[in-house]
Amino acid sequence: MRCPLALVPMLALAGCHLLPGDHGGHAGHGAPPPVRAVEPWAGPWDVPRLEDTNPDPDTVEVTLVAAPAERELLPGKKAMVWAYNGSVPGPLIEAKVGDRLVVRFRNELPEPTTIHWHGLRIPAEMDGVPGHSQPQIPPGGSFEYVFTVPDAGLFWYHPHVRSDVQVERGLYGPLVVRGPGEPSADRERLLVLDDVLVDEEGALVQRSPSPHEIMLGRQGTLLLVNGRPRPVATVQAGAIERWRLVNAANARYFRLALPGHRFQVVGVDGGLMEAAQEAEELLMVPGERLDLLVRAAGQPGSALDLQTLPYDRGHGTGGGASADVLRVVYAAEALPERPMPRVSGEVGGLAGFRRSRRLALTEEMHGSGRRAPVFRINGEAFPKVTPLEARLGDTELWEVANDSDMDHPFHLHGFRFQVLPAAGAAPAPRAWKDTVNVPARATVRLGVQFEGHPGAWMFHCHILEHAEHGMMGMIHVAP
Ligand code: C2O
Ligand code: CU
Repeated sequence: MRCPLALVPMLALAGCHLLPGDHGGHAGHGAPPPVRAVEPWAGPWDVPRLEDTNPDPDTVEVTLVAAPAERELLPGKKAMVWAYNGSVPGPLIEAKVGDRLVVRFRNELPEPTTIHWHGLRIPAEMDGVPGHSQPQIPPGGSFEYVFTVPDAGLFWYHPHVRSDVQVERGLYGPLVVRGPGEPSADRERLLVLDDVLVDEEGALVQRSPSPHEIMLGRQGTLLLVNGRPRPVATVQAGAIERWRLVNAANARYFRLALPGHRFQVVGVDGGLMEAAQEAEELLMVPGERLDLLVRAAGQPGSALDLQTLPYDRGHGTGGGASADVLRVVYAAEALPERPMPRVSGEVGGLAGFRRSRRLALTEEMHGSGRRAPVFRINGEAFPKVTPLEARLGDTELWEVANDSDMDHPFHLHGFRFQVLPAAGAAPAPRAWKDTVNVPARATVRLGVQFEGHPGAWMFHCHILEHAEHGMMGMIHVAP
């Protein structure tokens, strides 16, 4: 049963109980703010690509500077954001499998930060988790990230210090690693999705989040693709486009549909899947990536919008209307129809499980008399957590059990996993993931492969307010 009032404090209370101070009862309590309808964005909206300054063909060397910057979120209105190299999203870093990546990073923010490389299997000292892998980088400080990129796919980078605030302000960027067997498409687009909470003047709302916003995760009122509201993609009828998406929002689940079109999902977080899968709509939780082939099936001269449909992730979040994400405009000329390319990635099977473990996700509206909600994994709230112990080379079965009334997107650093089919469900094509939705009151089974680097690694909910309020744990992986 789903509680309409959002406030069941952990599994001990069955059903819907109102707690003092919950302000329960007034209509729409659980609903996040509505999304603004906007005109299509007229300007350019491509993510700039970082220039590789190293002549060695197997080294990509770039400079990133995090600093306050001025941007237009609503057309014609100025907003102060935090940006990498002045750009939201941060610029695209592009490499090929096996390249050495050197990122000379400087922090010009008024507070400490780090860069975490989401989804990359790199040494723990380069993972950007303060205290466990590297010190925080103070204002004015710098750090050189150096690592080899082992897997092809679409990854992304963002801070791991006050990430609910720093990512919301604009610090996130895409990283593409090219590999063999890339699908051939008429055009490739990178779409980095976000939502921001803006005021009437188009500025970011920067007050600290209310307990209720922490509970739901802060949803925005303006949807962005590559930092722009409802940008325009001009497509040619008949074309087969490759769309690569990242959900960089703090908390929003995008449930994407393009009326009259079907998607071929060819890849997910950790690269191409073993076989493509067709879909009419796609749920993308914070942190996830998708690699799609889209046949432009519309009429020359027509136009429509990629939409996000309502999705109920618990606690009254299911309301609202569909919202436009991206304007798709058909050019006058068409391309001849051609067959969909066959795409398949090499995704090995999992070895036998060395052991299994259960991780229980819980939430509490008022953590033992505190004002703010507290989120826990196996009863512990970060940073007061007991690290788990695992061994490099092992494969483990993880049962992530959501004992709460809201979905949580579960993310593991440094390693990848395959989502195992639920009992009785047909097996899906094999795919590597690092972020997965765990629906309210459901259990998701993961085959986690500890192949990569030893050290202390984090796992957490990728609703950033939840991670910052306790839903984060650590695993020590011994060499
Ligand atoms: Cu993108 Cu620790 O996360
Ligand atoms: Cu969560």
